[in-house]
Amino acid sequence: MDVDNKFFNVALLIVATVVVAKLISALLIPKSRKRLPPTVKAFPVIGGLLRFLKGPVVMLREEYPKLGSVFTLNLLNKNITFFIGPEVSAHFFKAPEADLSQQEVYQFNVPTFGPGVVFDVDYSVRQEQFRFFTESLRVTKLKGYVDQMVTETEDYFSKWGDSGEVDLKYELEHLIILTASRCLLGQEVRDKLFADVSALFHDLDNGMLPISVIFPYLPIPAHRRRDQARTKLAHIFANIIASRRETGKSENDMLQCFMDSKYKDGRQTTEAEVTGLLIAALFAGQHTSSITSTWTGAYLFRHKEFLSAVLDEQKNLMKKHGNKVDHDILSEMDVLYRCIKEALRLHPPLIMLLRSSHSDFSVTTKDGKEYDIPKGHIVATSPAFANRLPHIYKDPERYDPDRFAVGREEDKVAGAFSYISFGGGRHGCLGEPFAYLQIKAIWSHLLRNFEFELISPFPEIDWNAMVVGVKGKVMVRYKRRVLPVD
Ligand code: HEM
Repeated sequence: MDVDNKFFNVALLIVATVVVAKLISALLIPKSRKRLPPTVKAFPVIGGLLRFLKGPVVMLREEYPKLGSVFTLNLLNKNITFFIGPEVSAHFFKAPEADLSQQEVYQFNVPTFGPGVVFDVDYSVRQEQFRFFTESLRVTKLKGYVDQMVTETEDYFSKWGDSGEVDLKYELEHLIILTASRCLLGQEVRDKLFADVSALFHDLDNGMLPISVIFPYLPIPAHRRRDQARTKLAHIFANIIASRRETGKSENDMLQCFMDSKYKDGRQTTEAEVTGLLIAALFAGQHTSSITSTWTGAYLFRHKEFLSAVLDEQKNLMKKHGNKVDHDILSEMDVLYRCIKEALRLHPPLIMLLRSSHSDFSVTTKDGKEYDIPKGHIVATSPAFANRLPHIYKDPERYDPDRFAVGREEDKVAGAFSYISFGGGRHGCLGEPFAYLQIKAIWSHLLRNFEFELISPFPEIDWNAMVVGVKGKVMVRYKRRVLPVD
């Protein structure tokens, strides 16, 4: 009887366990399904792709009012979950690489940057390489770069006549390539190899197409030219590095910083790594900065009240410092800073930031809704959309640099991730101070020395570019002058 009882108890326990397990799974599975974010409605299979190709920001504008701040788009065999607004994007920006990584989603950069750098290496190595970036962009280094930026800017515009008409977009792109060459790639490139190297960079640039994001190694002519250009650049930089090492010559540029950088184990960077890191720096900083410079000008010419505010600031600084411009004087240009920042709020060149999720996580929206995001989703946020949210920015479509002034500070009131043109958190832009200094150096010179009038219509956005910029020409009429300081 005892034995029977024992068997009965064990059988009961097994049945009970199975029932409980079933109950738990029955309760949990639907529950977890219930907590998945809403999905964008689209035709099966290719519907999501079509919505995305129509323009990701168009899609966000249509879906955000219907679905809220967290939703998923099925894109072929992938799920992209969008996080819109500072209330839900903290995890996106702060999560450790083991949870949300960049490596897979930014893999398409590998053939351009080259082997052994950035997204071609493990996170531990990448972190060290980002340390090299940080060191090369320290204030002490920036001070030297600013002197070079100022010289380049003065030289460039000294070639303009007393008056004329120019495509401002072309002029600023050109100047920024020259400055980037001097500060980042070094004097040898700027003085002797500029034409060759910029032609090679042009081929690298043209090899980065929307199709390259999905098929970076597709055997198409643009990719072949990209690969040839990459090989030639590696050769040119190997020679420059070898010559600097042989002669013991040391310069104040990013090339030198990368050459002198050492990994934690004491290993020196190789020539190939230095080349790859320089290409990455140029890709991160060149178009982004020239686009922002162009928008800044276009908005200042349209909004005379802000143009006179920046001119007054320049006059005050000239009274104080004369014609001198250096790192510290540029750092005093708060009004100009806010005008650039506002142009960049309305037009962040990187419109979509991506991560790949490696673990399940949950997010709570500002209305208290909770969603579970499964591992395997691509997670995305959009500076172009989030920077214009009306609950963060008053009258968000309006160009209003004063929104960042003391007392309003709309970019801070809703927390750290309200203004995301430079990303933020763990992978926030390392070149932000460099970019502002460069744009300020250009605009303070232009404002002090020329009067402008925008003669083409206010520019439109070129949504088709990989780095989203200004469509067509931006024609301005200029007249040389000396800013009167009363
Ligand atoms: C207006 C100019 C610029 C804009 C709008 C901009 C924007 C951004 C954004 C949005 C990110 C974050 C990407 C992400 O989270 O996936 C980023 C990262 C980065 N940027 Fe910039 N950038 C600019 C200029 C520069 C310049 C001039 C440099 C270097 C000279 C630079 C170097 C970097 C680097 C190295 C990272 C990667 C940081 C990391 O992953 O830890 N950027 N930038």
